[in-house]
Amino acid sequence: MNKDIAVIILAAGKGERMKSEIPKVMHKLCGRNMLAYVLDLAASLRPKKTVVVLGYKHELVAKSLPKNISAVVQKKLVGTADAVKEALTKLKDFQGTVLVLYGDTPLLKKESVDKLLKYHIENKVDATLLTAQMDKPAGYGRVLRDKLSSVSGVVEEKDADDFEKDIQEVNTGIICFNKLSLEAALKQVRPNNRKKEYYLTDTIKILYTEGKLVDGIKLGDLQEALGINSRVDLAKAGALMQQRINEKFMLDGVTIVDAGSTFISYGVKIGQDSVIYPFTAVESDVKIGKRCSIGPFAHLREGTRVADEATLGNFVETIRSKIGAKVFAKHFSYLGDASVGRKVNIGAGTVTANFDGRNKHSTVIKDNAMIGSDTILVAPVKIGKGAFTGAGAVVLNDVPENRKAVGVPARILKK
Ligand code: UD1
Ligand code: CA
Repeated sequence: MNKDIAVIILAAGKGERMKSEIPKVMHKLCGRNMLAYVLDLAASLRPKKTVVVLGYKHELVAKSLPKNISAVVQKKLVGTADAVKEALTKLKDFQGTVLVLYGDTPLLKKESVDKLLKYHIENKVDATLLTAQMDKPAGYGRVLRDKLSSVSGVVEEKDADDFEKDIQEVNTGIICFNKLSLEAALKQVRPNNRKKEYYLTDTIKILYTEGKLVDGIKLGDLQEALGINSRVDLAKAGALMQQRINEKFMLDGVTIVDAGSTFISYGVKIGQDSVIYPFTAVESDVKIGKRCSIGPFAHLREGTRVADEATLGNFVETIRSKIGAKVFAKHFSYLGDASVGRKVNIGAGTVTANFDGRNKHSTVIKDNAMIGSDTILVAPVKIGKGAFTGAGAVVLNDVPENRKAVGVPARILKK
């Protein structure tokens, strides 16, 4: 545990620019809400304490928090300085470095924050900003530097004049503070700006004017600084996060034929030498074994478990299903609430009719069964080992081991 560091995560905002009923930090990238990524980052720093500031629909957000995280509710969302003040009420006994992270900046990496913390602590700075150089820095606070090029303040875009707007060095929102300096500066923040908000970024000018040490270090990869304010930003950040996920799979031995059209959620597991073909979506809580072939155009949804060497081809959708080793389901199929044994062949157009309008029911298909094209398996139903269904069969009753069922509704053939 890093005893000298406490993390504050600001996540109270509604996110007006998202135009949403859902709190901004609950919007998802790659199947996971953006706050979860920031919480992971905070945990990776092993701080003494992490405090999350909640506001808009705080009950909803609080439910998603791990148990060891403390939360405070900011009563009125009057700005980032006020949010930090609220968080400090949970850090009364703490002395040391306070790191402020924003809940809407999920791409930030641990290495960058480590670098910031190291610089801040080693040089005994009062406030260190993580900054980024951007060609078109629209929407971000601009970093002001004095004649000696020391950081002297941050001006928000709304309050910036034309010269200040031309500044390309921006505040990423991530700031390290010496706790005592932060507390002293917060007392002096006033809402003298166009938004009439208490800006955390005003503490920089306040500390600078008092002769305190303020500084900034630049982020190497500016994509990490992407703050999500609108759904346009959400899509941009989602694409970057997807790229990270896909690259990790490729480096771990999974072939992704076209990473740009492959959508794999956070936390999915895929074994070595599996191949994922284009236009495939793999959602959260899916595990795929080794040497599988998935897609093109496959859709694997939550609770899907695919054993080694299975093939799920084009337009195959699965949910809450176990797919055994060496199963072939090569063409358009829906497998929901199904347990499919080893070496089963699922013919084109096979559908598990798992929903009766009220409840979901399961389908069990045992090893080596051969499901004919266009079979409808009306669940609950069991297909025995080595059993066979004819093309177009509508199976209402269980089919015993090694028997054949054909027709509508399917009747079991005498041997
Ligand atoms: C903020 C920074 C800006 C920086 C940018 C980086 C300030 C004043 N401005 O601007 O310099 O370039 O982030 O992305 O800090 N929040 C609260 N309570 C509030 C207001 C906001 O918890 O009362 C939270 C929001 O939920 C969000 C974060 O603080 O997670 C930042 O707020 P936001 O309104 O998105 O600030 P920006 O305008 O993006
Ligand atoms: Ca923001």
